[in-house]
Amino acid sequence: MTLPVILAHGGAGAPNEDSDGPQQACEVGLKFLTDGEIDAALRAVVEAAVVLENDVRFNAGTGANYRLDGSLQMDAILATSDGRIGSVAAIERVRNPIRVARLVMDSPHIMLCGDGATRFAHHRGIADDPPVTEKARKRLESALERLKSGKLRPTERKWQGRDMHGTIGAVARAADGTFAVSCSTGGTSMMLRGRVGDSPLFGAGTMCGEHGAVCATGDGEEIIRRLASMRVYMRIAEGMHPQAACETEVAVFPPPYTIGLIAASREAHGMAATDDKMARGVLEAQE
Ligand code: GLY
Repeated sequence: MTLPVILAHGGAGAPNEDSDGPQQACEVGLKFLTDGEIDAALRAVVEAAVVLENDVRFNAGTGANYRLDGSLQMDAILATSDGRIGSVAAIERVRNPIRVARLVMDSPHIMLCGDGATRFAHHRGIADDPPVTEKARKRLESALERLKSGKLRPTERKWQGRDMHGTIGAVARAADGTFAVSCSTGGTSMMLRGRVGDSPLFGAGTMCGEHGAVCATGDGEEIIRRLASMRVYMRIAEGMHPQAACETEVAVFPPPYTIGLIAASREAHGMAATDDKMARGVLEAQE
Protein backbone atom coordinates (compact mmCIF):
# COMPACT_ATOMS: atom_id res chain seq x y z
CA MET A 1 0.00 0.00 0.00
CA THR A 2 1.41 3.40 -1.03
CA LEU A 3 0.74 6.63 0.82
CA PRO A 4 -1.42 8.85 -1.41
CA VAL A 5 -0.03 12.27 -2.27
CA ILE A 6 -1.17 15.19 -4.40
CA LEU A 7 0.85 18.17 -5.59
CA ALA A 8 -0.46 21.21 -7.46
CA HIS A 9 0.96 24.40 -8.93
CA GLY A 10 -0.41 27.74 -10.11
CA GLY A 11 2.24 28.36 -12.74
CA ALA A 12 5.93 29.22 -12.97
CA GLY A 13 6.23 32.87 -12.04
CA ALA A 14 2.89 32.89 -10.18
CA PRO A 15 3.71 34.55 -6.83
CA ASN A 16 4.57 32.12 -4.05
CA GLU A 17 2.15 34.16 -1.88
CA ASP A 18 -0.66 32.77 -4.04
CA SER A 19 0.18 29.22 -2.91
CA ASP A 20 -3.11 29.11 -0.94
CA GLY A 21 -4.74 28.41 -4.36
CA PRO A 22 -2.77 25.24 -5.18
CA GLN A 23 -2.93 24.19 -1.51
CA GLN A 24 -6.73 24.43 -1.58
CA ALA A 25 -6.69 22.45 -4.84
CA CYS A 26 -4.70 19.73 -3.02
CA GLU A 27 -7.23 19.69 -0.19
CA VAL A 28 -10.09 19.18 -2.62
CA GLY A 29 -8.09 16.63 -4.63
CA LEU A 30 -7.09 14.63 -1.55
CA LYS A 31 -10.74 13.92 -0.73
CA PHE A 32 -11.12 12.16 -4.08
CA LEU A 33 -7.71 10.52 -3.77
CA THR A 34 -8.67 8.81 -0.54
CA ASP A 35 -12.38 8.03 -1.01
CA GLY A 36 -11.74 4.38 -1.87
CA GLU A 37 -13.47 4.63 -5.24
CA ILE A 38 -11.89 3.66 -8.56
CA ASP A 39 -9.76 6.08 -10.54
CA ALA A 40 -8.85 7.97 -7.37
CA ALA A 41 -5.72 9.62 -8.79
CA LEU A 42 -7.51 10.69 -11.97
CA ARG A 43 -10.51 12.13 -10.17
CA ALA A 44 -8.18 13.90 -7.72
CA VAL A 45 -6.17 15.72 -10.40
CA VAL A 46 -9.33 16.65 -12.33
CA GLU A 47 -10.98 18.23 -9.29
CA ALA A 48 -7.72 19.92 -8.22
CA ALA A 49 -7.40 21.42 -11.71
CA VAL A 50 -11.01 22.64 -11.63
CA VAL A 51 -10.30 24.55 -8.39
CA LEU A 52 -7.35 26.28 -10.06
CA GLU A 53 -9.18 26.87 -13.35
CA ASN A 54 -11.90 28.63 -11.34
CA ASP A 55 -9.37 30.85 -9.54
CA VAL A 56 -8.97 34.09 -11.48
CA ARG A 57 -5.39 34.56 -10.20
CA PHE A 58 -4.16 31.74 -12.42
CA ASN A 59 -3.82 31.60 -16.18
CA ALA A 60 -6.20 28.72 -16.95
CA GLY A 61 -9.96 28.51 -17.37
CA THR A 62 -11.29 31.66 -15.69
CA GLY A 63 -8.27 33.96 -15.83
CA ALA A 64 -6.89 32.53 -19.09
CA ASN A 65 -4.91 34.89 -21.30
CA TYR A 66 -6.26 36.35 -24.51
CA ARG A 67 -4.59 35.79 -27.86
CA LEU A 68 -3.19 38.86 -29.61
CA ASP A 69 -6.30 38.97 -31.83
CA GLY A 70 -8.54 39.21 -28.72
CA SER A 71 -9.77 35.63 -28.86
CA LEU A 72 -9.48 33.26 -25.91
CA GLN A 73 -8.22 29.74 -26.56
CA MET A 74 -7.02 27.27 -23.95
CA ASP A 75 -5.13 23.98 -23.71
CA ALA A 76 -5.55 21.12 -21.21
CA ILE A 77 -4.55 17.50 -20.71
CA LEU A 78 -5.14 14.55 -18.42
CA ALA A 79 -3.07 11.36 -18.33
CA THR A 80 -2.98 8.25 -16.17
CA SER A 81 -0.31 5.65 -15.47
CA ASP A 82 -2.41 2.97 -17.21
CA GLY A 83 -2.02 4.82 -20.52
CA ARG A 84 -5.21 6.86 -20.83
CA ILE A 85 -4.76 10.36 -22.25
CA GLY A 86 -7.32 13.08 -23.03
CA SER A 87 -6.27 16.44 -24.37
CA VAL A 88 -7.71 19.62 -25.88
CA ALA A 89 -5.83 22.40 -27.62
CA ALA A 90 -6.97 25.89 -28.60
CA ILE A 91 -10.45 25.19 -27.22
CA GLU A 92 -12.84 28.13 -26.77
CA ARG A 93 -16.04 29.01 -24.92
CA VAL A 94 -15.72 26.60 -21.99
CA ARG A 95 -14.95 27.47 -18.38
CA ASN A 96 -13.17 24.23 -17.47
CA PRO A 97 -11.10 22.77 -20.33
CA ILE A 98 -9.94 19.99 -17.99
CA ARG A 99 -13.49 18.59 -17.93
CA VAL A 100 -13.43 18.44 -21.72
CA ALA A 101 -10.05 16.64 -21.59
CA ARG A 102 -11.75 14.09 -19.33
CA LEU A 103 -14.44 13.52 -21.96
CA VAL A 104 -11.84 13.19 -24.73
CA MET A 105 -10.09 10.55 -22.62
CA ASP A 106 -13.18 8.33 -22.96
CA SER A 107 -13.47 8.99 -26.71
CA PRO A 108 -11.57 7.08 -29.42
CA HIS A 109 -9.12 10.02 -29.65
CA ILE A 110 -6.31 11.43 -27.56
CA MET A 111 -6.45 15.08 -28.63
CA LEU A 112 -9.06 17.40 -30.13
CA CYS A 113 -8.19 20.92 -31.14
CA GLY A 114 -9.75 24.24 -32.13
CA ASP A 115 -13.30 24.35 -33.38
CA GLY A 116 -13.59 20.54 -33.21
CA ALA A 117 -12.72 20.55 -29.51
CA THR A 118 -15.19 23.36 -28.78
CA ARG A 119 -18.01 21.66 -30.68
CA PHE A 120 -17.27 18.34 -28.99
CA ALA A 121 -17.47 20.01 -25.57
CA HIS A 122 -20.79 21.73 -26.24
CA HIS A 123 -22.22 18.64 -27.89
CA ARG A 124 -21.29 16.63 -24.78
CA GLY A 125 -23.15 19.05 -22.51
CA ILE A 126 -20.41 21.43 -21.39
CA ALA A 127 -21.88 24.95 -21.16
CA ASP A 128 -21.09 27.54 -23.84
CA ASP A 129 -19.47 29.91 -21.37
CA PRO A 130 -16.37 31.90 -22.39
CA PRO A 131 -14.22 32.59 -19.30
CA VAL A 132 -13.66 36.25 -20.12
CA THR A 133 -12.17 38.43 -17.37
CA GLU A 134 -11.22 42.08 -17.04
CA LYS A 135 -7.81 41.06 -15.68
CA ALA A 136 -7.02 39.08 -18.83
CA ARG A 137 -8.25 41.96 -20.99
CA LYS A 138 -5.81 44.29 -19.19
CA ARG A 139 -2.96 41.80 -19.67
CA LEU A 140 -3.70 41.75 -23.41
CA GLU A 141 -3.73 45.56 -23.55
CA SER A 142 -0.38 45.64 -21.78
CA ALA A 143 1.08 43.00 -24.16
CA LEU A 144 -0.13 44.96 -27.20
CA GLU A 145 1.40 48.11 -25.73
CA ARG A 146 4.76 46.37 -25.23
CA LEU A 147 4.62 45.13 -28.83
CA LYS A 148 3.84 48.61 -30.13
CA SER A 149 6.51 50.33 -28.06
CA GLY A 150 9.12 47.61 -28.63
CA LYS A 151 9.70 47.49 -24.86
CA LEU A 152 9.65 43.72 -24.80
CA ARG A 153 10.61 41.48 -21.90
CA PRO A 154 13.70 39.29 -22.38
CA THR A 155 11.56 36.26 -23.26
CA GLU A 156 9.46 38.32 -25.69
CA ARG A 157 12.33 39.13 -28.02
CA LYS A 158 11.21 36.56 -30.59
CA TRP A 159 8.19 38.74 -31.37
CA GLN A 160 10.36 39.39 -30.79
CA GLY A 161 9.20 36.56 -28.24
CA ARG A 162 6.67 35.93 -25.53
CA ASP A 163 6.10 35.95 -21.78
CA MET A 164 3.48 35.75 -19.06
CA HIS A 165 3.05 32.05 -19.33
CA GLY A 166 1.45 30.50 -16.31
CA THR A 167 -0.45 27.31 -16.21
CA ILE A 168 -2.05 25.20 -13.54
CA GLY A 169 -1.51 21.53 -12.89
CA ALA A 170 -1.65 18.66 -10.45
CA VAL A 171 -0.06 15.23 -10.04
CA ALA A 172 -1.36 12.50 -7.76
CA ARG A 173 -0.35 9.06 -6.53
CA ALA A 174 -3.17 6.89 -5.20
CA ALA A 175 -3.00 4.20 -2.51
CA ASP A 176 -2.99 1.49 -5.18
CA GLY A 177 0.21 2.95 -6.67
CA THR A 178 -1.43 4.44 -9.77
CA PHE A 179 -0.67 7.98 -10.92
CA ALA A 180 -2.46 10.75 -12.79
CA VAL A 181 -1.62 14.23 -13.99
CA SER A 182 -3.69 17.25 -15.06
CA CYS A 183 -2.58 20.44 -16.72
CA SER A 184 -4.55 23.44 -18.03
CA THR A 185 -3.49 26.80 -19.42
CA GLY A 186 -4.45 30.00 -21.17
CA GLY A 187 -1.01 29.97 -22.85
CA THR A 188 1.38 32.93 -22.86
CA SER A 189 0.82 36.68 -23.05
CA MET A 190 1.91 37.09 -26.67
CA MET A 191 0.53 34.39 -28.90
CA LEU A 192 -1.23 34.00 -32.19
CA ARG A 193 -4.63 32.45 -32.51
CA GLY A 194 -4.04 28.72 -33.07
CA ARG A 195 -0.81 28.54 -31.12
CA VAL A 196 -0.51 25.38 -29.03
CA GLY A 197 1.91 25.29 -26.10
CA ASP A 198 3.50 22.47 -24.16
CA SER A 199 0.64 21.89 -21.75
CA PRO A 200 -1.63 19.60 -23.83
CA LEU A 201 1.30 17.65 -25.26
CA PHE A 202 2.13 14.35 -23.55
CA GLY A 203 5.87 14.18 -22.87
CA ALA A 204 6.31 17.95 -23.07
CA GLY A 205 4.03 19.63 -20.51
CA THR A 206 3.05 16.40 -18.76
CA MET A 207 4.18 12.82 -18.42
CA CYS A 208 2.64 9.88 -16.61
CA GLY A 209 3.63 6.23 -16.43
CA GLU A 210 4.32 3.35 -14.05
CA HIS A 211 7.22 5.25 -12.42
CA GLY A 212 5.34 8.44 -11.66
CA ALA A 213 3.72 11.63 -12.90
CA VAL A 214 5.20 14.97 -13.91
CA CYS A 215 3.64 18.35 -14.74
CA ALA A 216 5.52 21.33 -16.16
CA THR A 217 4.76 25.04 -16.38
CA GLY A 218 6.73 27.84 -17.98
CA ASP A 219 7.86 28.85 -21.45
CA GLY A 220 5.93 26.41 -23.62
CA GLU A 221 8.02 26.39 -26.79
CA GLU A 222 11.20 25.70 -24.83
CA ILE A 223 9.47 23.00 -22.76
CA ILE A 224 8.35 21.31 -26.01
CA ARG A 225 11.84 21.60 -27.51
CA ARG A 226 13.32 19.85 -24.49
CA LEU A 227 10.43 17.41 -23.83
CA ALA A 228 10.99 18.57 -20.28
CA SER A 229 8.40 16.40 -18.51
CA MET A 230 9.68 13.30 -20.29
CA ARG A 231 13.23 14.10 -19.17
CA VAL A 232 12.17 14.45 -15.56
CA TYR A 233 10.18 11.21 -15.80
CA MET A 234 13.14 9.32 -17.29
CA ARG A 235 15.37 10.47 -14.45
CA ILE A 236 12.80 9.23 -11.95
CA ALA A 237 12.54 5.91 -13.83
CA GLU A 238 16.30 5.57 -13.53
CA GLY A 239 16.05 5.93 -9.76
CA MET A 240 16.58 9.63 -9.15
CA HIS A 241 14.54 11.24 -6.36
CA PRO A 242 11.76 13.40 -7.91
CA GLN A 243 13.06 16.48 -6.09
CA ALA A 244 16.51 16.03 -7.67
CA ALA A 245 14.91 15.19 -11.04
CA CYS A 246 12.94 18.47 -11.01
CA GLU A 247 15.88 20.51 -9.79
CA THR A 248 18.14 19.06 -12.49
CA GLU A 249 15.72 20.12 -15.23
CA VAL A 250 15.35 23.60 -13.77
CA ALA A 251 19.14 23.93 -13.58
CA VAL A 252 19.70 23.03 -17.24
CA PHE A 253 16.69 24.96 -18.62
CA PRO A 254 18.23 27.69 -20.78
CA PRO A 255 17.77 31.31 -19.64
CA PRO A 256 15.94 33.60 -20.10
CA TYR A 257 13.25 30.93 -20.30
CA THR A 258 11.64 29.74 -17.11
CA ILE A 259 10.17 26.45 -15.97
CA GLY A 260 8.38 25.01 -12.96
CA LEU A 261 7.88 21.30 -12.26
CA ILE A 262 5.96 19.08 -9.87
CA ALA A 263 6.49 15.32 -9.77
CA ALA A 264 5.54 12.24 -7.81
CA SER A 265 7.22 8.84 -7.87
CA ARG A 266 6.31 5.57 -6.14
CA GLU A 267 7.97 6.61 -2.88
CA ALA A 268 8.53 10.35 -3.03
CA HIS A 269 7.63 13.67 -4.60
CA GLY A 270 9.33 16.93 -5.52
CA MET A 271 8.89 20.39 -6.99
CA ALA A 272 11.19 23.11 -8.29
CA ALA A 273 11.02 26.29 -10.35
CA THR A 274 13.30 28.86 -11.91
CA ASP A 275 14.26 31.35 -9.16
CA ASP A 276 11.98 29.24 -6.93
CA LYS A 277 8.99 31.32 -8.19
CA MET A 278 5.85 29.18 -8.47
CA ALA A 279 2.63 29.11 -6.45
CA ARG A 280 2.43 25.51 -5.19
CA GLY A 281 0.79 23.08 -2.81
CA VAL A 282 1.30 19.54 -1.57
CA LEU A 283 -0.73 17.24 0.66
CA GLU A 284 0.00 13.70 1.77
CA ALA A 285 -2.61 11.37 3.25
CA GLN A 286 -2.02 10.41 6.88
CA GLU A 287 -1.24 6.75 7.60
N1 GLY B 1 3.34 26.59 -20.43
C1 GLY B 1 2.22 27.24 -20.94
C2 GLY B 1 2.35 27.61 -22.33
O1 GLY B 1 3.42 27.99 -22.79
O2 GLY B 1 1.37 27.56 -23.03
